[in-house]
Amino acid sequence: MAAALPHSPLAWGMWRLLPEDPKLTETKINAALDSGITLFDTADIYGVGPGGGFGAAETQLGRVLASTPALRRAMTIATKGGIVLGVPYDSSARYLVSACEASLRRLGIEQIDLYQIHRPDSLAHPAEVASAFEQLRRSGKIRAAGVSNYTAAQTRALQAHLPFSLASIQPEFSPLATAPLTDGTLDLAAECELAVLAWSPLAGGRLMVSDSADARAAAVAAALDSVAATHRVSRMVAALGWLMAHPTRPVPIIGSQNPDRIREAMTVLKLKLERKEWYTVLTAARGSPLP
Ligand SMILES: NC(=O)c1ccc[n+]([C@@H]2O[C@H](COP(=O)([O-])OP(=O)(O)OC[C@H]3O[C@@H](n4cnc5c(N)ncnc54)[C@H](OP(=O)(O)O)[C@@H]3O)[C@@H](O)[C@H]2O)c1
Repeated sequence: MAAALPHSPLAWGMWRLLPEDPKLTETKINAALDSGITLFDTADIYGVGPGGGFGAAETQLGRVLASTPALRRAMTIATKGGIVLGVPYDSSARYLVSACEASLRRLGIEQIDLYQIHRPDSLAHPAEVASAFEQLRRSGKIRAAGVSNYTAAQTRALQAHLPFSLASIQPEFSPLATAPLTDGTLDLAAECELAVLAWSPLAGGRLMVSDSADARAAAVAAALDSVAATHRVSRMVAALGWLMAHPTRPVPIIGSQNPDRIREAMTVLKLKLERKEWYTVLTAARGSPLP
């Protein structure tokens, strides 16, 4: 049985969150909460860039939580560790525990709801990663644990050393990035009841570009537009609906910084794709007919 982590059907991600007036960030968080999104995904590495740096996105969220503490109760907060600038990965138990503690300090919270390994570290034995998760959970610093960008085999190996069930996996998954359908990721999620948190569900915005020079993106966008026209929704909603139609009910982590788009995303719950529509989009993504 999975260590269930109650979550909303969509999540809002903070990869693109840059240092800004905390009131602006709060507006985005409220747009998500008002529409029913309660799962928020960040990482210690988010915010690296102009005006930011390692930890900047967590610090930004921490500022919002400090100024409006009531938000914390409404939010399920997921973050990640294990990427180290210039290394680039460290999932040694010692590092993960210290990284998680640093995230807690930046966020200004007592417990992280979901702590995820951001990317697999080939030099860390899964038993060691498991011991870090176990230590963090026993001390109450995290409520649940998950992985990101792990293969199905890597996830299984980690699970084999854990005394509790992983709650989630976080693969890239969108109508343009369909590997999880066939590489065992979603099968493992179905087998172990893992929540599937789909990163870049709109392919980082590439699916939203009109007249894309990328022929495959243009073909997928056209297939989504056809679904959108039939159901009178936007291409964005059609893309999210396609993803969420999978029986493991993936949770798209939307990355928009636009409050109106954040609010619109949840209208996807009214959309139900026909089987044939779903396969038409997949065929466009493959670029060749299904056998
Ligand atoms: N685990 C990992 O390794 C990993 C990697 C990448 C991301 N993530 C997670 O996934 C989250 C989402 O990633 P993402 O930001 O790439 O997601 P995304 O939702 O695929 O892309 C968001 C981008 O699409 C644009 N967009 C959305 N709707 C649009 C529309 N209708 N028309 C034009 N542009 C539109 C947004 O612009 P606007 O802001 O203007 O709306 C934004 O630039 C991240 O925040 C992070 O939490 C995880």
